[in-house]
Amino acid sequence: MPNNVLTVAYIGAIALFIISVGGLSNQETARRGNIYGIIGMLLAVVATALNPEVAGYPIIIVAITIGAIIGAIGATIVPMTGLPQMVGLFNSLVGLAAVLIGFAEYLKLDYSLLGVDLTIHKLEIYIGVFIGALTFTGSVIAFAKLQGLVSSKPLVLPGRHWMNLAMFVGSIALGFQFMSATGQEALLPLSIMTGISSILGIHMVMAIGGADMPVVISILNSYSGWVGTATGFMLSNDLLIVTGSIVGSSGAILSYVMCKAMNRSFANVILGGFGEGAGVVAAPSGDRQIQGEATPTTAQETAELLEDAKNVIIVPGYGMAVAQAQFEVSEITKTLRSRGVEVRFGIHPVAGRMPGHMNVLLAEANVPYDIVLEMDEINEDFPKTDVVLVIGANDTVNPSALDDPTSPIAGMPVMEVWKSATVVVFKRSLGSGYAGVGNPLFFKENTLMLFGDAKKNVGAVLRELTESEPEIIQETVLVR
Ligand code: TAP
Repeated sequence: MPNNVLTVAYIGAIALFIISVGGLSNQETARRGNIYGIIGMLLAVVATALNPEVAGYPIIIVAITIGAIIGAIGATIVPMTGLPQMVGLFNSLVGLAAVLIGFAEYLKLDYSLLGVDLTIHKLEIYIGVFIGALTFTGSVIAFAKLQGLVSSKPLVLPGRHWMNLAMFVGSIALGFQFMSATGQEALLPLSIMTGISSILGIHMVMAIGGADMPVVISILNSYSGWVGTATGFMLSNDLLIVTGSIVGSSGAILSYVMCKAMNRSFANVILGGFGEGAGVVAAPSGDRQIQGEATPTTAQETAELLEDAKNVIIVPGYGMAVAQAQFEVSEITKTLRSRGVEVRFGIHPVAGRMPGHMNVLLAEANVPYDIVLEMDEINEDFPKTDVVLVIGANDTVNPSALDDPTSPIAGMPVMEVWKSATVVVFKRSLGSGYAGVGNPLFFKENTLMLFGDAKKNVGAVLRELTESEPEIIQETVLVR
């Protein structure tokens, strides 16, 4: 393939990737976005394979076939809830590939390169291998934690930040040695740095609690993009540079959005120094006593409230995913809508345990996209709402985030459900959620607690609603 055709193909692939990422930002266009991404990747692979510099087709075909089979099987058998670990595993492969390419590039280093060119190329190799090794081992640990192969408890070694700093500084010092050495001599600092960076990846991710892994996966995803960019520089491949930057920056933006919605500091997350308390279930009322008395309710009373309501907002959370209650929730939605009640969903950006967790579950249960709204789109509507059903959500509906500056989640934007006329909370106890803090929502005057498993209780409310279907009153004809 002539070089100018290759350039055009690369530009086409880049454009498709950009449209693809744009499409993925919205549920309705996500499917189309995926298709653009597939076409872009196909174009990129075919154009690269037809590059005149590429040789060894049999090996490439065998590798692509094996990779495609593994990918297709993985995509078919991995359940939706297993996606974070699958992404983790894929990220690790990107990191490993960068390390191998870095070493290969060094071993075939072109010493006809001089001065700045040689320095830049060696720097590209060094940085690519450093981020690659860190991404590889970090992603393997993240996968193992999410898959339950390694304890999800954070490993907190004394002075761990200093250890991380020492490893980072050591890698920089070895970098100077690598840059000034030549030939086989430079392989030693490169190899030692690879070992240190691998340990750094393991150590940083081991220190993070299991429940924080989704953010870590997103950060490692971003790292894998930057690894791709570094590899693109090593190989002088423009497509890889741009694609890596798209993945790197979109991963970074996603991590930022998740951190902001969880009220965490981005810098703190990047340094890997967070989540020490994650996964620890706090006492029922959280870190401090919350005064008040909760008002329990029944499925029948909830059904009556819904029958009298004109508009309803459903706010799902992690508990809906645990209970797998989305199908019953979808049925209630259908039933109420068929009776002329306006039903909408309010989705907090970090509801559940992975980005888009609630959207995926609701799409699985065929809830129409146009009634599923983001927090910012619906938060102002709560004061005009008759009934809010909170299904297994807790932190994301906690008013203390807004009105208690001493709360650990102070400042986190939340769904302001308490502003509606009546809130019904579906959960099993007054226990805390992921953040381990008490929730004053449960004790508000307009809050009713429907205790028990969300699937069971949503099903019970549904039965009450359908059993109370307005009866067709038989007209009695009086025969004289
Ligand atoms: P959480 O605050 O985690 O609360 C979930 C609630 O679900 C629990 O309080 C639990 O109460 C209830 N529950 C569990 N199983 C249930 C069942 N079978 N039936 C009914 N209820 C059940 O959930 P949330 O409001 O979705 O907030 C998400 C939290 O995760 C946030 O703190 C967020 O920062 C964090 N986080 C999110 C992400 C992403 S990307 N989404 C990533 C990492 C961390 P009971 O035990 O009383 O039933």
